[in-house]
Amino acid sequence: MIDTHTHIDFKEFDDDREEIIKRFFDGGGEKLINVGCTLESSKRSYKLAKNNENIFASAGIHPHDADTVDENVLKMIEEIAMHYKTIAIGEIGLDFFKSTTSREIQVQAFRAQLELAQNHNMPIIIHCRDAYNDLINILEEYKTSNWKGVIHCYTASWEIAEEFLNLGFFIGFTGIVTYYKDKTEPNEEPEIYRTIKNMPLDKILIETDCPYLSPIPERGKRNEPLFVKHVAEKIARIKKTSFEEIENQTNKNAIKLFNIGL
Ligand code: NI
Repeated sequence: MIDTHTHIDFKEFDDDREEIIKRFFDGGGEKLINVGCTLESSKRSYKLAKNNENIFASAGIHPHDADTVDENVLKMIEEIAMHYKTIAIGEIGLDFFKSTTSREIQVQAFRAQLELAQNHNMPIIIHCRDAYNDLINILEEYKTSNWKGVIHCYTASWEIAEEFLNLGFFIGFTGIVTYYKDKTEPNEEPEIYRTIKNMPLDKILIETDCPYLSPIPERGKRNEPLFVKHVAEKIARIKKTSFEEIENQTNKNAIKLFNIGL
């Protein structure tokens, strides 16, 4: 299993970070990507990655912190991005749900970091909430033939997912997919089921977004990378296939997108 989106640098793991990492790798975890969301967390991510062969880092400023982005910060993000264990720019994007940062500032910071990723030919990790139209319009503008990335923690419709696939993106699913009960009537199915059923297997990534979004049966606890297996199990059930197939295919997808093979 590859957990493609963790925040194990967060203070929630200060007391047992090494233990959590060990639990993941002992429990069948192969690699994990720790995602930066501020300058400080991007630095911490890189440090974690440097000290652990199978941990990789991304560097970027989350839309909630878009107002911290200036030339100096961008330069430092770029420096972190140039290190060999930093494999993506992110998480970057737009969040119009309840952000205290204005839309204009978010868009500016997003564009600046997209350009950074393109200049260095790096994949991007995107956070998007209640801003899909704006996000797709911006991505269209920057589209190139080798454009690549993931829309992380995806919860929206198949129609919107299709637009991202057409732009060349992968789609990442978290423990949120486990929050819904299986219904026997197809018309009672949650939208996310329809999205997953329609998703080509070779475009799916799995992630925890830990310490947040603990999947069932761990819901209510702090999330950790090992729990990504519950996301894979649920996707396997929705797609009526085996856990092993989801594990193998999502591994391949993550290795391809982030270039983290041997
Ligand atoms: Ni995140």
